Amino acid sequence: MIKADGKVFFLNTKSTTYAFRVMETGQLEHMYYGRLINCDEPSVLIEKRAFAPGNTITYDDAHQDLTLEDVRLELSAIGKGDLREPMLEVVCADGSTSLDFVYDSYEVIQGKPEFKTLPSSYDETGKVETLNVTMKDKNHGFTLILSYSVFEECDVITRSAKFINTSEESVRLTRMLSMLMDYDHPGMKITSFHGGWTREMNKSDIVLPAGKFVNSSFTGTSSNRCNPLFMISEPDSCEESGDVWGFNLLYSGNHYSATEVSSFKKTRVVYGINPQNFAWDLAAGEEFEAPEAVLTYSAAGFRQMSLNMHDFVREHITRGPWKKKERPVLINSWEASYFDFTESSLLKLAKTAKNAGVELFVMDDGWFGDRNDDHRALGDWDIVNKKKLPGGLEGLSKKVNDLGLMFGLWVEPEMINVDSELYRKHPDWAIDIPGMDHSEGRFQRLLDLCNPEVVDYMIDRMSEVFSTPGLAYIKWDMNRNFSDYYSKYLPADKQFEVSHRYVLGFYRLLKTLAERFPEILMEGCASGGNRFDLGVLCYYPQIWASDNTDAVSRLAIQDGYSYGYPQSTYTAHVSACPNHQTLRVTPLESRFAVASFGVLGYELNLNDMKSEDIAAVKAQIELYKQYRKTLQFGDFYRHKADNIYQWSIVDKDKSTSVSMLMQREIVAGDQYLKINMAGLDQKTKYHFFGRKLEYNVKGFGDLVNTVSPIHIKQDSLVHNLVAKFVKMPGEIEDYVAYGDTLNSNGVKLVQSFVGTGFNEEVRYFPDFGARLYFVEKAE
Ligand code: GLA
Repeated sequence: MIKADGKVFFLNTKSTTYAFRVMETGQLEHMYYGRLINCDEPSVLIEKRAFAPGNTITYDDAHQDLTLEDVRLELSAIGKGDLREPMLEVVCADGSTSLDFVYDSYEVIQGKPEFKTLPSSYDETGKVETLNVTMKDKNHGFTLILSYSVFEECDVITRSAKFINTSEESVRLTRMLSMLMDYDHPGMKITSFHGGWTREMNKSDIVLPAGKFVNSSFTGTSSNRCNPLFMISEPDSCEESGDVWGFNLLYSGNHYSATEVSSFKKTRVVYGINPQNFAWDLAAGEEFEAPEAVLTYSAAGFRQMSLNMHDFVREHITRGPWKKKERPVLINSWEASYFDFTESSLLKLAKTAKNAGVELFVMDDGWFGDRNDDHRALGDWDIVNKKKLPGGLEGLSKKVNDLGLMFGLWVEPEMINVDSELYRKHPDWAIDIPGMDHSEGRFQRLLDLCNPEVVDYMIDRMSEVFSTPGLAYIKWDMNRNFSDYYSKYLPADKQFEVSHRYVLGFYRLLKTLAERFPEILMEGCASGGNRFDLGVLCYYPQIWASDNTDAVSRLAIQDGYSYGYPQSTYTAHVSACPNHQTLRVTPLESRFAVASFGVLGYELNLNDMKSEDIAAVKAQIELYKQYRKTLQFGDFYRHKADNIYQWSIVDKDKSTSVSMLMQREIVAGDQYLKINMAGLDQKTKYHFFGRKLEYNVKGFGDLVNTVSPIHIKQDSLVHNLVAKFVKMPGEIEDYVAYGDTLNSNGVKLVQSFVGTGFNEEVRYFPDFGARLYFVEKAE
């Protein structure tokens, strides 16, 4: 609910309040962002001033008490005494750079307006309100509209800003961020997510007593180096308690956030498009939209912060027919055969996959032009490789459909290889600087999406591909970072606009296709997670989280995503061992356990698997389908994440829950383990149980001789023969308990193997062992 009177503004959600006021001098003073409060006396929230401290700039002669450097603000620019990070910077026609924005007016509107140029959140509940505050620049007459949308139900407020050049002359924006907010104290903890290819979303914490911390990307995308998601918290906050503020941005290009502690010990946060290598010219009358920033506050630690973000993404970001629809279990051809396939090898894989319960077959890279490696053919989407696919896309699609599977396809529409028909025809369509050497990424170049003709062409080409009869799914890849920023379409003085114009062109391409083909399930990908953000999630509901399919690596990666993104948005595949990215060998059941906590798929040559492994895969898929609704759309809880990772997911109606734990490394003699749970109904009686599994006797090595009547040499023929017929029984876990007990205590599990004996009351739990547990309402 928004309470506004032109002097004071209170934005209340279910459990939070965000408040600011108009100062006597016209600036917006931030007052409060935290737990829901009922405040009709704002003076208790406002800092009191009588004299400005020494060595500061006072705002004007009439206000010697006021230095903008020591006020909590909603907006700040340079030039009027605030020496901290600004929200915007401009170069005016007269060369000056000082801005002096003061309050003009406000309006409250029902609902969530769409952006004109960028993706935006939306509302179907009818409960969202938006406050627009208009600010006017005293120096040049520019207009800035600060927007605040209040998503009451999920405790989220989104902020954005629009600059309108209401002056007579043109102006150059050199920084135009989406939001600025000041806390009144230093020493806060910043949690952000860093990495690179195959190691996305590694969580990092830093406490900031002084100075500045920047979380930004310059890959041209939201990046695997540094995801836009970050959190600020009181340093003693943990999963279940403490003040935590979460931030995210609906933007897929270079982003920037800076957290800065001022010399007066206030902590400032600014957030938006990265100003590095950015400028934007506005003629009189033109406007610029900054992307939407998402804010949430939790008084109950990181867990509640994540639940707020998850609800917001599910309800107000993802959209279209797949928003709430259960996602199919797929088989992807990439790690199964890379570029080396034929129609018949693909169909053989599809057939085995179908028998194992898979629902969607995806042909990955390698189906067009002469693409037998990654050096050529990107751009040639109209040239299907007939050597591999004699019946073309349509022929394969039909045969896959005839097997009873949905058909899906990989594309990388934003890219071009120099060795392609498209480049030979349109060298000017690639991003590179004429006459200069070009730095390549994965042997390919970016198409110049600043050029509307290129976007139109790609809309047509992709529309042809997407129109393949029987096509139900698209994997939209993007495999290189930006270099040699240059658009041949733009004049020299507009080259600073390339990175943002590219993003706008990309959004037009993606949005047009998403709207034209709403039934097609689209999955984003950028060498894994190099473009995992809320901007693209407005168009595709799921993203390939990482090219790393190793179950152990995936623990940290998926745990990282879970802070800001619901599990229905990140996909996870069971792949072969030794793993193709790490060469690590993990149990098949552990690979499944971890992958089933994202949107599950398989990416390996099922035809090369042992028959008992295929049978295991079949059982996994059957189990997954049984709990899929809970796993994909339930509330996600992280528990302890150290040597042992634990996650649990609870259905929205609290009737069902699935939990997973996985151990990275065995600790000798450590026999007791507990699985933690959360989110169950306190008063409901539940049945808790594990899976009944059997283990290979070879996992016990030559210990087999402690029970065998004859001596068995390890790895001998006899050993293999015994392993074929004798299985070690898995432990049994089966209990009944009330939700309050499970929420507070979890379940003490049977002991781990500690070298002194083994039976059904002992858990066989080697390195990388994992378990799934289920909770259902007891009869
Ligand atoms: C990228 C993707 C992979 C695969 C290959 C194909 O690396 O992340 O999943 O699609 O491209 O070239």
